[in-house]
Amino acid sequence: MKNIVILISGRGSNMQAIVRACADEHWSARVVAVIANCHDAFGLAFAQAQGIPTLVVESRGKTRELFESELAVVIDAFSPNLVVLAGFMRVLTSDFTLHYAGRLMNIHPSLLPAFPGLHTHASAIEAGCKLSGATVHFVTSVLDHGPIVLQAAVPIKVDDTPETLSDRILAVEHVIYPRAVRWFVEDRLYVDDLYVSLAPDINGMNEPQWFFGANA
Ligand code: GRF
Repeated sequence: MKNIVILISGRGSNMQAIVRACADEHWSARVVAVIANCHDAFGLAFAQAQGIPTLVVESRGKTRELFESELAVVIDAFSPNLVVLAGFMRVLTSDFTLHYAGRLMNIHPSLLPAFPGLHTHASAIEAGCKLSGATVHFVTSVLDHGPIVLQAAVPIKVDDTPETLSDRILAVEHVIYPRAVRWFVEDRLYVDDLYVSLAPDINGMNEPQWFFGANA
């Protein structure tokens, strides 16, 4: 049984998708805590309603180092096998990412390495891209960078706004993030430098590490 800790800053819809998949698909894992860096993170209410321990480590008014050292103490009390960043809006230091190397995952709403950072949907539209999407990756010390586990591609329509594109990408995030976490729980991910390969499932079936969604 693996312990999963999920970090959020806001809505927490990816967290909800992972919690639901863990229960519905009977993963050999449990979400042992949902931790937010602000008291008003909307997703905390959902986790509480599910009976999952929730904690807040306030980031405001602290140095990055102090915040992260407090956060790591709280996370480590749950002995996590995997720490999942689900809309956790903090840039992390290399001390923090090294401490969780190989057991820290993130989802970013673009086809990395294109458009790291903020305003990804507007940037993809402005660049005239025909596809965007989402990427689940292991976290390294470089922002929105690291071994790619799974990507989903979504077409960009001529009349897309950042909001409409964001909605359609979020729908595929809810498909790929639980899937990637499940692969980790099943011990099927192998990382060689920046390359992540996926072992077949217990029935010998291979699954693609890509997904086409939202009317592709
Ligand atoms: C998602 O678009 C995710 O890719 C990005 O932040 C957003 C979080 O949404 N990192 P939610 O809090 O999971 O609903």
